[in-house]
Amino acid sequence: MNLGLKNKVAFVSGSSKGMGKAAAMIFAEEGARVVITGRGKEAVNKTVEEIMMSTGNTEIIGIAGDLTSKEGVQSAIRQVVDKWGTVDIAISNVYGPQAEGFETVSESEWYEAYQQQVMHVVYLTSEVIPYMKKNRWGRLININSISAKEPHRELPLVTANVVRPAVAGLQKSLAFELAPYGITVNTVLPGSIETERIKEYARSRAKIKGVSSEEVQIGSWAKIPMNRVGTPREFSSVVVFLASEPAAYVTGVSIQVDGGRVRSLF
Ligand SMILES: NC(=O)c1ccc[n+]([C@@H]2O[C@H](COP(=O)([O-])OP(=O)(O)OC[C@H]3O[C@@H](n4cnc5c(N)ncnc54)[C@H](OP(=O)(O)O)[C@@H]3O)[C@@H](O)[C@H]2O)c1
Repeated sequence: MNLGLKNKVAFVSGSSKGMGKAAAMIFAEEGARVVITGRGKEAVNKTVEEIMMSTGNTEIIGIAGDLTSKEGVQSAIRQVVDKWGTVDIAISNVYGPQAEGFETVSESEWYEAYQQQVMHVVYLTSEVIPYMKKNRWGRLININSISAKEPHRELPLVTANVVRPAVAGLQKSLAFELAPYGITVNTVLPGSIETERIKEYARSRAKIKGVSSEEVQIGSWAKIPMNRVGTPREFSSVVVFLASEPAAYVTGVSIQVDGGRVRSLF
């Protein structure tokens, strides 16, 4: 299948590591022009080099900065437009929730969670839609979490349980508004995907419980019908498909990539 991604400009937020990096790698393999981002400059540069070496695609640039701030997003998109004139695909992906229950979350942490998760998507969308509307073609995809569909119960992730569904609601509204312009808006929900973040999380849970990180991982895999975590590439293949030409009629959906873990029918 021809994904029709050659020369498309793909901005992937949070792509120096993890699932964003895996998506950037596939976009590069498909001949897109790719923007790698993250706060750490060293990791951004390393990923740009790695993707260029691995794919032979030299149309990869790196931009280091905090993409939860309006200025950070504006500056990043300005640099992309200066170089390539437009943005065709924007993946939003930067939120890292605190593990806390309701009684320990401060007022400022509530605002912080909203700022990081919801406002990042608002800023990125606002910056790129003028170009997408002009081209009458665009792809907006948010990397969210299965907790947008099935809130965490065992883990004290109360802020995530609130702001993740808010982004799913935002994406649905955007899908209605932007469909007439050929812009699709979708959400992909990871279950457990083996990134550094998940390994670090297993290490800290293991320390609290006084067990090995393998034991923590086996405990959480029991809830996954496939009995294993997913790879970043398995997850990001779905993201890239939604960004492709053949996915032109798919909009306003939230798709989980979770090895069968979510129990609901839809
Ligand atoms: N992995 C899973 O199983 C899983 C499950 C559910 C939800 N999620 C969610 O999916 C998203 C990605 O997870 P991941 O596992 O791929 O994480 P990861 O491996 O930690 O990668 C996150 C990427 O985002 C960048 N980043 C973080 N904050 C940023 C900011 N403010 N501005 C710019 N870049 C930023 C990081 O680079 P720097 O640190 O250098 O900024 C890194 O490149 C997160 O929202 C996570 O909560 C993941």
